Amino acid sequence: MSKTYLVTGGAGFIGSNFIHYLLEKHEDILIVNVDKLTYAGNLENLASVMDDKRHVFVQADICDKEAIEKIFLSYPIDYVVNFAAESHVDRSIKDPDVFARTNVMGTLNLLNLAKAAWQTGDDTYRPGVKFLQVSTDEVYGDLGPEGFFTETTPLDPHSPYSASKAAADLFVQAYGDTYRLPLNITRCSNNYGPYQFPEKLIPLMINNCLNGKELPVYGDGMQVRDWLYVADHCKAIDMVLQKGTSGEVYNVGGHNERPNVFIVKSIIEYVRTTIDPTVSEALIRHVVDRKGHDRRYGIDPQKIRDKLGWEPEIMFEDGIKLTIGWYLENRKWMEHVTSGSYQKYYEQMYAGR
Ligand code: NAD
Ligand code: DAU
Repeated sequence: MSKTYLVTGGAGFIGSNFIHYLLEKHEDILIVNVDKLTYAGNLENLASVMDDKRHVFVQADICDKEAIEKIFLSYPIDYVVNFAAESHVDRSIKDPDVFARTNVMGTLNLLNLAKAAWQTGDDTYRPGVKFLQVSTDEVYGDLGPEGFFTETTPLDPHSPYSASKAAADLFVQAYGDTYRLPLNITRCSNNYGPYQFPEKLIPLMINNCLNGKELPVYGDGMQVRDWLYVADHCKAIDMVLQKGTSGEVYNVGGHNERPNVFIVKSIIEYVRTTIDPTVSEALIRHVVDRKGHDRRYGIDPQKIRDKLGWEPEIMFEDGIKLTIGWYLENRKWMEHVTSGSYQKYYEQMYAGR
């Protein structure tokens, strides 16, 4: 049956990949894509779908009550998938306020408007509707050397970014508990793939490698992140929408833990052997560590595997080649996003570090 999706943050990294995924996967679909187009939102990520009749782009802020209400009045929204967020930990350390505004207050605004649009009686809602909050493993905090995050691991966020995502998750949960709003929360590990803004580890290292620039590794580089190719995350989100039990949290990850410096070395190796033989590990520069840096994340994905049959399809060795290949084929995209304010950002974040 045809569904109408309200996707927020659909001009960002994961959101735009999700739009591409949905349009490929579902013939009969309408997507209303709402994005404020902050520094991280980019219409170039949507160039190939802008003429698709199944996709409508609206530039708006998720905190704007009137603008979002108008969307609920104009379209028969069945699903809200909330990607819109300030997503970068380092920026949250420098300027936390906007993280509280968008990630917490923006989510609350969406919850209120979805509830109002879908409510048919006290605690009853139009059949088939659902609110999906796209969250992160960072809400669980630092793992320590052993074990994995499960859905019952207590929330223990450390950065202003993860605190804002945890606060949003608690509001979403509260709307399920208090008003019985149909919903799910997904908590995914680190994503990589096409269209990721080069403030994040993998695209930043690819870009610097291709330009023979230093590779700034925080601290000793032995912090561990659990990497998932973005298309596998998109598949998980769509499965949770279709089949997830309302009220439940689903962790998403592919058991692919790697220390940061290993990631950087694998990018160097690929670029050295396939593109530029002068690139070497001499480019690595250990810089001052991130404040409050969590040492290790690792997701236990057993629930989504057992209950919904989700499995990741892209192994890291293939995914990283696909990703570097995409950035090589899309040098113009990289040139556009790294001109202007990116230069200032880079200077502020890395000069003298
Ligand atoms: P991103 O920074 O690439 O994209 C965020 C998008 O949200 C941008 O298009 C931006 O313009 C938009 N946006 C920001 N503020 C907005 C506002 N007030 N109103 C409307 N739009 C706004 O982020 P991403 O990496 O694609 O992450 C998307 C979501 O997934 C986030 O909620 C993030 O917390 C979550 N997540 C990310 C990862 C990851 O590894 N990147 C992993 C797990 C979860
Ligand atoms: O775990 C999921 C989270 O992954 C998402 O919720 C966030 O939105 C997303 O940004 C990401 O957060 P991280 O902080 O893990 O991602 P980032 O790419 O910024 O950093 C990955 C690791 O690499 C982290 O340990 C910090 C380190 N790092 C990062 C940069 C940008 C470096 O060593 N050097 C760098 O220049």
